Amino acid sequence: VAKQQFQTVRGMYDLLPDRRSLFDYAAAAFINVAVDAGYGRIETPVLEDEGLYSRSQGQGVDLVDKELYRLIDLSDKTLALRPEGTAGVVRAYLEHGMGSLPQPVKLYYQEAMFRYDRPQEGRYRQHQQFGVEVIGDASPSVDAQVIMLAGRAFKRLRLQGVTLQINSIGDALCRPKFRKALIDYLNENVKQLAEIDRERLSKNPLRVLDSKEASTQVILGDAPQMLNFLCEKCQQHFAGVLEYLDDLGVSYDLNPLLVRGLDYYTRTVFEFYGEREGSQSSLGGGGRYDGLVETLGGVPTPAVGFAAGIERILLEMDAAGVVPPEQQIKRVYVASLGEPARLAAFRLIESLLDGNVSAVGAVDRDGIGAQLARAEKLGVPLAVIIGQKEVREETALLRDMATGAQETIPLKDVVAELRMRFGIS
Ligand code: HAM
Repeated sequence: VAKQQFQTVRGMYDLLPDRRSLFDYAAAAFINVAVDAGYGRIETPVLEDEGLYSRSQGQGVDLVDKELYRLIDLSDKTLALRPEGTAGVVRAYLEHGMGSLPQPVKLYYQEAMFRYDRPQEGRYRQHQQFGVEVIGDASPSVDAQVIMLAGRAFKRLRLQGVTLQINSIGDALCRPKFRKALIDYLNENVKQLAEIDRERLSKNPLRVLDSKEASTQVILGDAPQMLNFLCEKCQQHFAGVLEYLDDLGVSYDLNPLLVRGLDYYTRTVFEFYGEREGSQSSLGGGGRYDGLVETLGGVPTPAVGFAAGIERILLEMDAAGVVPPEQQIKRVYVASLGEPARLAAFRLIESLLDGNVSAVGAVDRDGIGAQLARAEKLGVPLAVIIGQKEVREETALLRDMATGAQETIPLKDVVAELRMRFGIS
């Protein structure tokens, strides 16, 4: 016997049916709130020009510098596997002239993302995100609506312990002043900076703010805060966002150290955290990216969005003991006994499926006891049994799996009977 040679690639995983349906349950909560709020689904390719991602991010962003899956295709083009959804959606917005549609354009997606990071629980090299993007509206109410949408989905999933952190990181006008003040401050305290943060300081100083390093965190307490550097317009915008959230009684933590790992953000940034212990507790995050459309070649167009990691939401659901409400599966098991019944069972399964009734069964295998045991295991509420006598009389036995009660009905009525019992109209 040959030894198994292949396994999933490090950091990637298979989703088997049970987990997959939990996955769909979680994703559906987000999809439903997005559809209700008027978002349309978009799907962009997994592969894009590598330049899309390097252009949309600045210098020193891990997502591009360290985590991007690059590949060269057979005609020497440099492509990349999608590490995040926003850049591709903005590319599509421009490519399809969505700027001429009524604004804002509201899009949502649920897609696989690829990041070459060190795998651990809650961090994978292929993961799935649900995301929304609202392109073409600068109003603070839209930031608040995007935040509300995410919060509503967490609530629907009964994840009570999810908390929201929010900050404003200003715009091209005011951020440079803050950046300079931060660099000066960090340079004064460079001795206390962890090694990795000294590197960040030279490449992307704002990233030092969300450092997890203990020694760095000590000096961050007294670091300059962006909120004190916001220009008037950014200040007003942020006050507007908070006012809308306050109006709805949303609780949030103002976190002056929140900057997020991607470089296209302006003004509002926010992140949702779960209760689960560990560093991978960010369930989702987003913010405004008013400069990205222009960076990618469009006319200046404000935008805001959010994305959540579905695996992390599942881990959070596991920890909180959330399971989907149990639903009785509407499916019938067809069991047959003996040679003459074989063809009748085979035909019946197909006519049930033709008639929109979910049906399974083993046509030419196993004894009746084994078949019923299997039906039991599958959790089906009903079984149809066809034996020699039934074939002769053109009938079938309908068995209630919970009580074991059986009744005989004409074979030709089975599909209609099951449609009625399962409420299929
Ligand atoms: P992000 O924070 O990089 O934002 O990713 C969004 C979420 O995806 C994270 O909060 C986390 O739950 C999940 N996630 C990220 N990386 C991994 C990973 N390696 N394994 C498992 N889950 C992960 C963005 O990607 C932005 N595009 C969000 C956005 C949309 N901003 C504006 N619009």
